[in-house]
Amino acid sequence: MNEPNIHAVHRDWDREFPIIEHAEGIYLFDKSGRKYIDGSGGSSVVTTIGHGVKEIAQVMYEQAQKFSFYPAHAFTNEKFLELSDLVVSLAPGDLKEKSRVWITCTGTDATDDAVRLARQYWVESGKPSKYQIISRWQAFHGNTISVAGFSGITGRRSIFQPMFIDSPHIPPAFCYRCPFEQTYPHCNLLCARALETAIRQQGPDNIAAFIAEPVVGAAIGCYPAPPGYFQTIREICNRYNILFISDEVMTGWARTGKMWGIDHWEVTPDIIATAKGMTAGYTPLSAIIAHDHIWATLEKNHSPFKAGHTLNANPVSCAGAIAVINYILEYDLVENSRQRGEQALIGLGAMMEKHSIIGDIRGKGLMFGFELVKDQATKQPFESKKHVSRMFEIAASKRGLVTYPCTGSIEGVLGDMVLLAPPLVISESQINDVLNIIDDSLGDIEKQLGK
Ligand SMILES: Cc1ncc(COP(=O)(O)O)c(C=O)c1O
Repeated sequence: MNEPNIHAVHRDWDREFPIIEHAEGIYLFDKSGRKYIDGSGGSSVVTTIGHGVKEIAQVMYEQAQKFSFYPAHAFTNEKFLELSDLVVSLAPGDLKEKSRVWITCTGTDATDDAVRLARQYWVESGKPSKYQIISRWQAFHGNTISVAGFSGITGRRSIFQPMFIDSPHIPPAFCYRCPFEQTYPHCNLLCARALETAIRQQGPDNIAAFIAEPVVGAAIGCYPAPPGYFQTIREICNRYNILFISDEVMTGWARTGKMWGIDHWEVTPDIIATAKGMTAGYTPLSAIIAHDHIWATLEKNHSPFKAGHTLNANPVSCAGAIAVINYILEYDLVENSRQRGEQALIGLGAMMEKHSIIGDIRGKGLMFGFELVKDQATKQPFESKKHVSRMFEIAASKRGLVTYPCTGSIEGVLGDMVLLAPPLVISESQINDVLNIIDDSLGDIEKQLGK
């Protein structure tokens, strides 16, 4: 038990937070000597390359020794230039070598700046009526008031609701609990075509962009859109002159078994927002990547991008990001993510017969999860007061596995899910360790629930 600290405010009042002392590879070690597998990849889906890689700390130290900060209104720094070249060389589809990069601090800054850029682009293009952002229910794009407004996590929005600007949400692409009560592929992708309905209702002249996560993270526990979804979205955006923003804050940098989440649909977004895995948690940094023609519109008007934070493009963070990205490439973590992700889904699939409380398994690469239900056949959820995903988190943590509990698969309120996103360096035998702990923990909570 830690000495209670009354000055530091944590994320929850009702739990104890053990103090982490060091971390290495996929493991975290707390002050009492307990070892945990970082099964959620930080909070969450961050630690692409694993913990404690000395060369990342070394390059950041070397940069900090030269300089850590400078007057960015008057100078630039080499690490920012180098990082931008590297990112553009790895960008998906038509953005590869035809985009430019804006570096900021957090995932929320990236999604906020992505919609700012969309808005500014339309104003600079002589279409100032285009301002609305269409997004989806059961999506998470970050935590400022503006971003929470176009996010779709009911529990995190409700008390701030009066402070949001009007922006339409369409239903998620969520086949397990299809909002249209249809079955893929007979549904004819009603969930994607709902974008067209929203655009026509609001008027395309009022819409700046549509934003979506290729694989939804915290809001519906690692749920990928079905095949064809983003192709249809892209086609609708083109038809109505709407920018498409891919929120790759979780799904970027090899997490889903491809470099970018959107690569699974072979579609090019106009703007990408990315963060987390780009520095693997070694330092805060995020980015937006946007097509050349978008930036060129601002440039032609001699109009600087109206965004920016004091610590943007911090040279120490840029040095860390370059080293992390090179590590991802050098150790081919895209392929390891793909292979180990497949192994995890096969292992979880095999558990469904034994554990009837697994309603669904889902994910891509090393971003995977499952939904916990009272009844596999009817998909009936547990009562929210039982806090079943939290119950699972406690059972797994006792056995040395950190997981990320999620709720709200049903209209953002009911429905328990578990998100897993271990470091992409995880080995075959370590995935088996994760699966064994999941198996035991499910048995434990089944007993507690009288199943
Ligand atoms: C898809 C997505 N977008 C944006 C964010 C916001 O990132 P940050 O917490 O770094 O502000 C998150 C955070 O979990 C996320 O999952």
